[in-house]
Amino acid sequence: MFSESDSVNYVLSKGPVQNVFRTGEFHDWGMDLKDVAGRIKILDTTLRDGEQSPGVSISVHEKIRIASLLESAGVDVIEAGFPIASDAEKHAVSQINSVISKSEVCGLARCTGKDIEAVMGTGVKRVHLFIATSDIHMRHKLKMDRSQVIESISKSVDSVASRGVKVEFSCEDATRSNMDFLKEAFKTARDSGASVLNIPDTVGALSPTAMMHIVKEIRGATSTEISVHCHNDFGLATANTLFGIMGGATQAHVTVNGIGERAGNASLEEVVVGIESFLSSGTGMSKEKLWELSKEVSSVTGMAVQQNKAIVGENAYAHEAGIHVHGIVNEVSTYEPIDPAVVGTERRIVVGKHSGVNSIRWIMERNGIEADLETAREILREVKKIREGGTRVDEGKVVEMFQEYAKIGGN
Ligand code: KIV
Ligand code: ZN
Repeated sequence: MFSESDSVNYVLSKGPVQNVFRTGEFHDWGMDLKDVAGRIKILDTTLRDGEQSPGVSISVHEKIRIASLLESAGVDVIEAGFPIASDAEKHAVSQINSVISKSEVCGLARCTGKDIEAVMGTGVKRVHLFIATSDIHMRHKLKMDRSQVIESISKSVDSVASRGVKVEFSCEDATRSNMDFLKEAFKTARDSGASVLNIPDTVGALSPTAMMHIVKEIRGATSTEISVHCHNDFGLATANTLFGIMGGATQAHVTVNGIGERAGNASLEEVVVGIESFLSSGTGMSKEKLWELSKEVSSVTGMAVQQNKAIVGENAYAHEAGIHVHGIVNEVSTYEPIDPAVVGTERRIVVGKHSGVNSIRWIMERNGIEADLETAREILREVKKIREGGTRVDEGKVVEMFQEYAKIGGN
């Protein structure tokens, strides 16, 4: 048995947690990162932009399951799909629209009559219309000039808004567009009835400060609700989204696990936890659902989550190194900035080459094993031998080793 002086504070991360950061842990070094008030809305596009990940196809049943999880986690808007893509896609959007009641459901459409009729046929009460405004896209893809693009925006937005359906409008490739033209395009959308203006960083080619600048410019020019949609080509999607919010955006587009075209989109988990940690605003989301959502989307899409991914990676709350485990068992905030319970999971202590005796003691405590310190050290020596021989050792194996040890009379 351990003596009183050996006893350590084995805190398992269960129970209610209010904030992502534990009291007194947050340091902004005097930077005004917290200077954003109000609630930020979350539009999840896992079922549209996420499904556009190369090689991914999600069935209607799976889509409904994910949509229900997103709704119970509290996302404001679910972008359910791109109805013109196929009859099955149109069917999926209309099915999701009929089962989801708390979140708004929206469908995507280009600024063309066919796309608009396809999305209107699903019954959604929110349409996300888009057209490209960068010279690169207008010249090489749309083969339209600026005045044709402006005309198309005004006709399309009006055709949806005049039927009493909410319009969110995006200038595709906004962040590589000419600023004066971008303002003209967004003002046209607003004047034709769009109530949310979304700024997509379509190829993820922006820096955080540039995103903040663009949002300020568009918000100043339009006085309308601004949203941001960031891709992750340079690994900056989450940072760009947070800086967009600091510039005045009040809605963020995200996907579960950050899946999406190429390097993906801003990840739901990172953006929500980021907003609630670094900005003085909230999302109203049930963050404890994030772990389950991540697992479900990974299993449905077949896209594994990077082990060291922030917030939902398998290693995000795992500790192996002896020095770290020593810190953790004494006081979790030494090496754990986020309580795993906040996102619906638990801390994991991994035993291996870098472990110290505290890892073994942690397992003993969790499994009600009573043994002296020398026994724990003996087990650790064995664990290291096995691990160095190439075999993984999990918690169950350590428990088994204790039982064996007790049987042969070691303890
Ligand atoms: O990345 C993008 O530009 C898009 C648009 C359809 C909004 O996904
Ligand atoms: Zn996108």
